[in-house]
Amino acid sequence: MEFLVNPNVERYINSLLKVDNVVEEMEEYAKGRGFPIIGRQGGYLLYLITKIKKPKLVVELGSGFGYSGYWFAKGITDGKVVMIDYLQENLDRAREFLGKAKLLDKVEMRVGDAVQIGREYKGIDILFLDLEKARYMEAVKSLEENLSEGGIIIADNVLFQGKVLNSKNDRKAKVLDSFNRYIHKHYDATILPVRDGLLIATKRL
Ligand SMILES: C[S@@+](CC[C@H](N)C(=O)[O-])C[C@H]1O[C@@H](n2cnc3c(N)ncnc32)[C@H](O)[C@@H]1O
Repeated sequence: MEFLVNPNVERYINSLLKVDNVVEEMEEYAKGRGFPIIGRQGGYLLYLITKIKKPKLVVELGSGFGYSGYWFAKGITDGKVVMIDYLQENLDRAREFLGKAKLLDKVEMRVGDAVQIGREYKGIDILFLDLEKARYMEAVKSLEENLSEGGIIIADNVLFQGKVLNSKNDRKAKVLDSFNRYIHKHYDATILPVRDGLLIATKRL
């Protein structure tokens, strides 16, 4: 993995972000299996956006074992996070971790194709994309009409280890580059160089 941010800077920022035991356990679990998660700084950002936005409905496409879902659920006061993954075993782990964190009353878990299941939900206040990268464009085009007024899109990995800068020979990087350009054309948006690039966008009203 090519680092977009100096690892010492990242370590410094992460050291300031205090977390509970469950988060530490989830980070260890991810590290031990090489499971890609949004990371502590990215997670904290999801939490802060959720606290500020006060969403009733968050839909997460690609939940893994629940790390990002944890941060959304922690930030929610009156609403729910729909966590979708096509692997039952990932959501089984998510249920264990979020149970320990006493956040299960804030989540609904669905097994299956995230784009297909996501379409069932209208009035989405935060749509989070962290599914297979080749489907980002399809996902946003299928689900953007389901966003609430003022709804937010957050997408992880949009810099794709810097490969979007020269995406000619990489199919996934090409999709992500098209996705980034599409979003910036139609939404108020920016990309934060947090870990692998986190895009935040809101409908241009
Ligand atoms: C990068 S991981 C998610 C990490 C998680 N969002 C986090 O930060 O903790 C991607 C997950 O998306 C799931 N996935 C990928 N494409 C999917 C799809 N089309 N439908 C449902 N799940 C999908 C994979 O099984 C994997 O668990």
